[in-house]
Amino acid sequence: MTGSLPPDWTSWRDRFDVDGYEERWRRLAAAGVDPHGEVGLVQTYEPRSVLDAGCGTGRVAIELAHRGVAVVGVDNDPDMVDVARSKAPELRWIVADLAGLALPDRFDVVVLAGNVIPYVEADRRAAAVDGCARHLAPGGVFVAGFALRPGWPDLADYDAWCAAAGLTLADRWATWDRQPYAGGDYAVSAHVQTATAPSR
Ligand SMILES: C[S@@+](CC[C@H](N)C(=O)[O-])C[C@H]1O[C@@H](n2cnc3c(N)ncnc32)[C@H](O)[C@@H]1O
Repeated sequence: MTGSLPPDWTSWRDRFDVDGYEERWRRLAAAGVDPHGEVGLVQTYEPRSVLDAGCGTGRVAIELAHRGVAVVGVDNDPDMVDVARSKAPELRWIVADLAGLALPDRFDVVVLAGNVIPYVEADRRAAAVDGCARHLAPGGVFVAGFALRPGWPDLADYDAWCAAAGLTLADRWATWDRQPYAGGDYAVSAHVQTATAPSR
């Protein structure tokens, strides 16, 4: 997602209804943008299970499921989850805040695609990272990609939230197809669990 991005999720939803969100992805796909770049990267970890955190209308989870991965989608916007559920009723969709998330499951990969972290309310971002990290299976990978723009979290903020959640940076790229990161305005980060956070 590029171009003029609204600063927070409420502004997004003021500008685009859920159909508008879906239509935006259809237009990008028609313009030649691969709508499944995130899935390609996630698959390099050969996960059996993936939590699509901030799943929206299910773009990533549904494609992963088509490729044989066990997925769960979580999002706190019930309208987005309704669309995801209508597209793939056989999958598990949960309306919940990532901050304080408490599912019984653990996942080989937790993925946050499409600027989820910046769209979490500012004072809940650290808790959202921690909530996601708690759902990693041993050896699991936490992958998130988001734009770096004024007013949004920077990578130092993000790495600090990850460190507080017991995660260490393993890789960082400029794109989901793993172009090297060289200080640009978009980053995809992969963190792994190296410590047990004190509260865990
Ligand atoms: C730009 S959309 C990305 C949706 C999907 N991951 C995709 O790539 O198509 C950002 C999503 O983050 C979700 N989100 C924002 N804050 C959240 C929170 N605290 N807990 C769960 N989901 C959240 C929004 O509801 C929205 O669906």
